[in-house]
Amino acid sequence: MSPTATLVVVDGYDASTYGERFAEVYDDWYGDVSDIEACTKRLAALSAAHGGGPVLELGIGSGRLALPLARLGVEVHGIDASASMVERLRAKPGGESVTVTIGDMADLALADPPPFSVVFVAFNTLFNLATDADQRRCLRRVTEVLAPGGVLVVEAFVPRDDVAAGAEASVAPRRITADEVVLTVSRVDRAAQTITGQHVHLRESGIRLRPWHLRYLTPAQLDALAADAGLELEVRSAGWRGEPFTDASEVHVSTYHRANVRPVREHPPADPR
Ligand SMILES: C[S@@+](CC[C@H](N)C(=O)[O-])C[C@H]1O[C@@H](n2cnc3c(N)ncnc32)[C@H](O)[C@@H]1O
Repeated sequence: MSPTATLVVVDGYDASTYGERFAEVYDDWYGDVSDIEACTKRLAALSAAHGGGPVLELGIGSGRLALPLARLGVEVHGIDASASMVERLRAKPGGESVTVTIGDMADLALADPPPFSVVFVAFNTLFNLATDADQRRCLRRVTEVLAPGGVLVVEAFVPRDDVAAGAEASVAPRRITADEVVLTVSRVDRAAQTITGQHVHLRESGIRLRPWHLRYLTPAQLDALAADAGLELEVRSAGWRGEPFTDASEVHVSTYHRANVRPVREHPPADPR
């Protein structure tokens, strides 16, 4: 972790903790958590529409999205705080073709980065930055590494009213098999807009704690943060296929361009079937 990183909001938890504790189970638990084909096709189309340059993924993890994207012919770069997650990526076919930096995406310290046509952060990963300051710093750095006509794409959940107003703490079974139980223990701090949790993984061989900590934003709050970084919302959909975003949407995929640049009209990208 870099000397400027400030992520000490939960005792014993820093930028690398999530990845280090989840790497062993990540692909098994989350390998098919979202529509990889729609996501990677959309990102490849965005890259083509915005100069055809390289694409950077923040929190690239085990390459769930980055490797299929690279297989579409896109030059993919990534950053991740967890060496164990990146080891998983490297061990997969094509893993050597992706340029990965181990580091904190709040700093986004990349050695000699090219101008990126697309920077993306998927599956709520922006919320892994646990303070307003880190989220702000990250988006400002994104603006600096984007090509003049490039775009930032953020995929994140929309905080539901019951997260904003309701249950403060919960324990729920996540996975029950003959050989293991995973209990999700979580606590919401509504004032700070954080959720702190543990997947408590119980097996015959012992207990493994898999902690996570999120600072969630509403789409409007994300737009304000992006504006602070010099970015403006271009289009928001409810998924990677360009599904219409409504008040009932649980997820958003939001594309931002520099505030002073006229958007390239490639949207809506695909039919939502
Ligand atoms: C939910 S996983 C997503 C991985 C991948 N993007 C995907 O969609 O499968 C979050 C990833 O972000 C990484 N991460 C968390 N906080 C980070 C930070 N501050 N800087 C860089 N990477 C971080 C974790 O190590 C993990 O690999």
